[in-house]
Amino acid sequence: MDVKDNCTRGSVLREKARRNIWQFGTSHKKMENTDRPIVFEFAKDRWLYDVDGNSYFDALSGVWVVNVGHGEHRIAKAMGQQAKEMNYVLSEEGFANIRAIELSEQLLKILPDDFDRVYFTSGGSEAVEMALRMARIYHRLQKEPRRNRFISRRGSYHGATLLALSITGNNYLSHVVGPPPPGLTKIAHPYCFRCEFSHRDPNTCGFECAHDLEAVILREGADNVAAFIAEPIATASGVAIPPKGYWKEIRRICDKYGVLLILDEVVTGFGRLGTMFGMEWFDVIPDIVVMAKGITSGYSPLGALATSKKITSKIPDRAFLIPGFTYTGHPVSCVAALTNIDIIKKDGLLLNATKRGIQLKNLLHEKLDNQPFVGDIRCLGLLACVEIVRDKSTRAPFNYNDGVVDILTDFFLQNKVYVRLLEGYIHIGPPLTVTEEEIAWLTDVVKDAFEQLSRLLS
Ligand SMILES: Cc1ncc(COP(=O)(O)O)c(C=O)c1O
Repeated sequence: MDVKDNCTRGSVLREKARRNIWQFGTSHKKMENTDRPIVFEFAKDRWLYDVDGNSYFDALSGVWVVNVGHGEHRIAKAMGQQAKEMNYVLSEEGFANIRAIELSEQLLKILPDDFDRVYFTSGGSEAVEMALRMARIYHRLQKEPRRNRFISRRGSYHGATLLALSITGNNYLSHVVGPPPPGLTKIAHPYCFRCEFSHRDPNTCGFECAHDLEAVILREGADNVAAFIAEPIATASGVAIPPKGYWKEIRRICDKYGVLLILDEVVTGFGRLGTMFGMEWFDVIPDIVVMAKGITSGYSPLGALATSKKITSKIPDRAFLIPGFTYTGHPVSCVAALTNIDIIKKDGLLLNATKRGIQLKNLLHEKLDNQPFVGDIRCLGLLACVEIVRDKSTRAPFNYNDGVVDILTDFFLQNKVYVRLLEGYIHIGPPLTVTEEEIAWLTDVVKDAFEQLSRLLS
């Protein structure tokens, strides 16, 4: 097949994608004007290949999903075998399957001892919804039926279903779906680069953003609040890494007012920070933990939540739990997760994420600190963000219409790098298998991108 045939095939597929599939996260018009979407057809290790014969380094693991890398034959083999043996069975209402039981055991082994029961969903949004439902069930059974309200953080992302999107802190995302369900409140998030309370030093700020939780609980009435939900690190809004001590303070406040703490580890779970879970890094134990994405590295859709003994022990065995999801405990997804976790452990991916994360952080600083449009670099393990600013001294961001995001996105794609730019953030999060050479090359491309931007804007 020559280049011309490839182009023809690519444009036909792109046209079909625009016509037949709703293009979320962008607009159909933009896709048409830019001749997108890029249509991928093959992926191996850290590389993606499109139908036009282009290759791209997957610097975002899809979207913080593919922790063990693409084309992992051990997972594919286990899934294929499971699909042949038993593809599906109802896994609630009195039925169960072996793979779901095995995965529950594995998760409870790798989570801190505090957790003792899990529930499976098809993805992160469903797991978030179920965690919120669980919090209300818990309070009702404690004879506190008024505890219905949920508190989340500005800058958070918790999913695309109506409730998960409504607790999501980004107004731009959550407001477009109309009025949110009642009983939701948002507090400040620990975004030290742009502190809502104008602090400049996280060592002396006294965690005012954490104390915002206490202020809101008191305003709402502690007896009305069911749970506080947050990600260990708010990822989608620029990898806002909380200062040391923040999570201890949040845990203290939740305990003081009987508010459950739900940790959304959809991105930070399964090795992204160099630890199996973000809670280990921040030394905080939530009451409920939510997992998805890296749980199967994207080989099959799966989400999960785990409840701590505090919750499990207080929900009486006689309590009737209304049905959950059709695909709960899906055997093929569970076997994908089991093999995936095995690979993370056996292949030493936590250690690699730690080492390559340190290298990534050091090289980003070395190559970008002097760039005029780089405001901040945040990196923990293999979760990183470079924040773009228009003015380094005032930290003023670019206007959304300045076209900077499009310029940089085009540059990265032309230079074989798939990353995601959202507003002023370049998110970087390659698979945990990434090599030393790849990190060195990737950070060179990021540097070149900023040099190109400087040339265009000077
Ligand atoms: C922190 C967090 N929670 C929840 C979700 C929702 O997960 P899903 O897209 O699998 O429904 C996401 C997705 O990006 C996420 O980043």
